[in-house]
Amino acid sequence: MIITMNKTILAISGSLREGSSNTQLLTLLGTWAPAAINYQIYTGMGGLPHFIPMAEGKAYPAAVQNLHQQLNAADAVIICTPEYAFGVPGSLKNLLDWTVAAGNFVDKPVAVITASSQGNYAHPSLLTTLGAINAHIIEGATLLIPFIRAKMDTGGHVIDAATEKELRLVFDNLLKAIKG
Ligand SMILES: Cc1cc2nc3c(=O)[nH]c(=O)nc-3n(C[C@H](O)[C@H](O)[C@H](O)COP(=O)(O)O)c2cc1C
Repeated sequence: MIITMNKTILAISGSLREGSSNTQLLTLLGTWAPAAINYQIYTGMGGLPHFIPMAEGKAYPAAVQNLHQQLNAADAVIICTPEYAFGVPGSLKNLLDWTVAAGNFVDKPVAVITASSQGNYAHPSLLTTLGAINAHIIEGATLLIPFIRAKMDTGGHVIDAATEKELRLVFDNLLKAIKG
């Protein structure tokens, strides 16, 4: 795909686990990005404080300001997350809660991948939350990948051809949404 202007994609993994398959998937997608794409994996989720609604006029904590800056600078966001205890991981929900009042996701094109053992609870729940914060879920850029551990090798490669095809389609649709 030809992308003429520089665009930034911010990739957010819902897993803080070392060797996370979700983070590995996002790393893999980054290798598919054309040269004009500035593809950044957000690394600050583990350093975000627990969400507290802020009093009007009070400055956000520095880590949250950094998150807001990275989201505001992104032309699109891709989230890739596991499911924990039938829900969205608390760390990722915490991150999203920090964006509600600031409106960082309003009209932001977002691709959503849930890669988990099953994931069928977290996936729709995450889409609901993104809808609540007025994100623009990109058509054809949502994907639920069950049995993720069996579909990747230890080097972070996808070893299931059907899954790789689906991932390429999601990534193409993400790129299409921001081309120009
Ligand atoms: C505390 C905990 C709870 C989990 N609960 C679920 C669950 O409810 N549904 C599911 O599909 N997988 C669940 N899993 C499995 C994870 O989805 C799986 O380990 C996944 O590979 C984690 O993603 P990661 O490799 O990116 O860290 C759970 C894992 C942990 C550690």
